[in-house]
Amino acid sequence: MNIFRDDVQWPETWPTREELLDAARRARARSYSPYSGFPVGAALLVEGMEEPLLACNVENGSYGLSICAERSAAVAMIARGGRRPLAVAIVGEPGEPCLPCGACRQFLAEFNPGMVMVFEKGDGHATTTLADLFPAPFLLEEQKTAE
Ligand code: THU
Repeated sequence: MNIFRDDVQWPETWPTREELLDAARRARARSYSPYSGFPVGAALLVEGMEEPLLACNVENGSYGLSICAERSAAVAMIARGGRRPLAVAIVGEPGEPCLPCGACRQFLAEFNPGMVMVFEKGDGHATTTLADLFPAPFLLEEQKTAE
């Protein structure tokens, strides 16, 4: 199944996909992942914020407490006063698309179920949307009517 698409709109006002991926690479370099050895970086483009917001996975000796880069990014967004993520770049193993886990898909869908997602793929990039990866998030009644 090809979950990437060539027809995802990427507005000119946004940093380019490569710029957002570069930001995610910088975020990945800050990862705290001594247990898995699998650093992940995320760069979130948030409505009303000039600069992409960087976040990474943060692990813990009590393994289950570890948090993924994508959820860290959403938490950082709220703490900084953002509400609506427009796009995210996620970088794990170089050149391999690092698709968000199910928990992160649900967590991000809270704030924008249609957000754009960009990944490294080989020497280039691949794009999709959260709605493509996770078409039926759990939403409360009030969230459904707000959309
Ligand atoms: N991880 C992320 O941060 N994002 C993903 O999309 C997949 C997995 C983290 C969790 C854990 O710290 C490490 O990668 C290995 O699973």
